Amino acid sequence: AQRRHASKHRFFAVELSQALFDFVIQLLPTQEEMAVKEDVRKLLERLIRTIEPDSRLLSFGSTANGFSLRNSDMDLCCLIDSDERLSASDMVTMLGDLLERETKFNVKPLPHARIPIVKLSLDPSPGLPLGIACDIGFENRLALENTRLLMCYAMIDPTRVRTLVLFLKVWSKRSRSINSPYQGTLSSYGYVLLVIYFLIHVKNPPVLPNLQQMPPLRPISQEDTHIGGHNTWFFDDIELLRQRWQSSNTDSVADLLIDFFRYYSRDFTYNTGVASIRGGLLKKESKGWQNELSGSRYNDSRERNRFCIEDPFEIDFNVARCVTKEGLYQIRGEFMRASRILAMRPRAVAALAQLCEE
Ligand code: GTP
Ligand code: MG
Repeated sequence: AQRRHASKHRFFAVELSQALFDFVIQLLPTQEEMAVKEDVRKLLERLIRTIEPDSRLLSFGSTANGFSLRNSDMDLCCLIDSDERLSASDMVTMLGDLLERETKFNVKPLPHARIPIVKLSLDPSPGLPLGIACDIGFENRLALENTRLLMCYAMIDPTRVRTLVLFLKVWSKRSRSINSPYQGTLSSYGYVLLVIYFLIHVKNPPVLPNLQQMPPLRPISQEDTHIGGHNTWFFDDIELLRQRWQSSNTDSVADLLIDFFRYYSRDFTYNTGVASIRGGLLKKESKGWQNELSGSRYNDSRERNRFCIEDPFEIDFNVARCVTKEGLYQIRGEFMRASRILAMRPRAVAALAQLCEE
């Protein structure tokens, strides 16, 4: 009976893995979409250089880390290489005026936001049926580095890592509405960190190595590796890594997805734990993020630290700080629902359809 059970599971896993690949492939951006986005970036860079000749406009977030879905937003960051530069909020105001005058974009400058940005969008048109949305920020070097870190993780095991991440993004965003920090749930960035944490620190043997804890190839200086007091070093020679390191974990994508949902619905210690891709499972207590009841009736830290995911570089920053009590309840409920559906082993295509029911 046990053997029959195991072989039934294997059959389900093979079928589900194939269904996941097929599902994810049709969600990838087309060559054409990527080309249009690159043209937009170049155009904007040319315009910004009329204000700041020494500036560069770089893309980060999903358009740059390999986890992009069709029609996803474009995140851009402007770096200015001169010493006398305008403040981010002045740049936002000036660039907003310029783009308003010179382009067809809908422009919304937010100079006084915590991170000042210009929001741009183009309405759908025959050549661009879905329009385009884009945020431009300034000097956000940490975001460029964390994008590069995620990209390196994606490159180590492109098939398994990208399939898992892309599936979870669609599942959380379009189907189940639990990808919205403004409404108390988790950002895409947060979900990606959960996947990587799981692949490095939960799976045994691990699917991914910990790039931030590997020995460097040559001595590195403090100056080269720190941005704004944060250590951003990680092992980034992926070609070399591939020659020297090979995961001995042979789980299929389907096995990993099933385990991912099981781990986050049953085993992760939400009340006391912090998921850290850099350091493994940490304690809220050790980071001063505990959410025990305190004397005051309104405890801000308790609200901000229901769910704790450490940023890989800004280690005093909780990426899940926007997740509210209700939001976490909803997210955990969705992990449990997914786990339940997969445990019943329906036909794979039906399972995906059911998981992604809106
Ligand atoms: P989609 O836009 O949903 O396709 O996903 P995305 O991969 O672009 O993720 P998201 O929009 O959530 O974040 C974009 C980038 O902004 C991330 O890759 C990070 O570099 C950065 N970012 C987003 N949220 C945070 C955060 O809370 N802390 C830090 N440090 N960076 C963040
Ligand atoms: Mg984005």
